[in-house]
Amino acid sequence: MKKELNKIAKDINSFLLRFLSMQKKTDLLAPMKYGLLPGGKKIRSKLVLDVGKIFRVKYKNLVQIGSAIECIHAYSLIHDDLPCMDNDLLRRGKLSTHKKFGESTAILAGNSLLTIAFEILSDKKFQVDDKIKVKLIKLISECSGHTGIAGGQYSDLNFEGKKIPLKKITEMQIKKTGKLFSFCCMAPAVVSKNNKYLNMLGKIGLDIGLLFQIADDLIDYSGNTKKVGKKTKKDLKKGKATLISLLGHQNTIKYGNNLKFKIFKKLNVFGKRSNDLKNTIKFILERQM
Ligand code: IPE
Ligand code: IPE
Ligand code: MG
Ligand code: MG
Ligand code: MG
Repeated sequence: MKKELNKIAKDINSFLLRFLSMQKKTDLLAPMKYGLLPGGKKIRSKLVLDVGKIFRVKYKNLVQIGSAIECIHAYSLIHDDLPCMDNDLLRRGKLSTHKKFGESTAILAGNSLLTIAFEILSDKKFQVDDKIKVKLIKLISECSGHTGIAGGQYSDLNFEGKKIPLKKITEMQIKKTGKLFSFCCMAPAVVSKNNKYLNMLGKIGLDIGLLFQIADDLIDYSGNTKKVGKKTKKDLKKGKATLISLLGHQNTIKYGNNLKFKIFKKLNVFGKRSNDLKNTIKFILERQM
């Protein structure tokens, strides 16, 4: 999986560098690049490629979609680390963007990465119909705003220090993390004009995102700061509402495994064509970074 992720990271990063180099030069470009590249796992882009393979979508188009997603993801991390949110100093093995460039710059660089995603998806060189571009932009907007990342982040912060029931915790995690994963799974089907599996892929994506967040919480609980590139053992200190805080470490591992098998079962409709996707899902739960 390491080798595959490295290749994707290389292709996504070179697309993004090229895209940014064609824009007017501004002082925000440096903090934007700092928060965007390099260092991320590019796991969301890997999912886009895996699902794209099922629907035989052109690699070039998948890289363009993945790049837009990575911009939104990077924006969400820059803001997530701010003092008014998780107040984290380390991200991807280096100082978080606000520590390096200051808070106001980090906020504005984050905003600019969010809007760049829409520029990437409406780009003339993106070889899909305009109608499809509009569909993708509408979908990714829904996944990023108050019904997605932003809404989930609001609940995540609002739940700190409170006892929150299981359903509410998973709903929050599905919004803050699952929604963008659901876009990753739907986008290739949208591009290939395959409506039959769209809803199903959307739901599978939410589950994969929830699984990803559960793994992230497990890594925070028992992971190694050096390996992960961000400070671990912080969720407990902050009183974050996670499945670990509610069910305990062992039961959360069980919950994650059950969720994985539930996802695998749904993917069986695609037969062998979903093998790459299944491997990525396995990696999501077993990863230590
Ligand atoms: C971290 O995401 C934030 C969560 C949604 C849990 P990643 O673990 O994908 O972050 P990078 O891109 O690899 O740094
Ligand atoms: C962040 O979740 C989810 C986002 C949408 C940014 P976390 O707060 O757990 O992510 P890390 O652990 O800081 O990467
Ligand atoms: Mg957070
Ligand atoms: Mg955080
Ligand atoms: Mg975390």
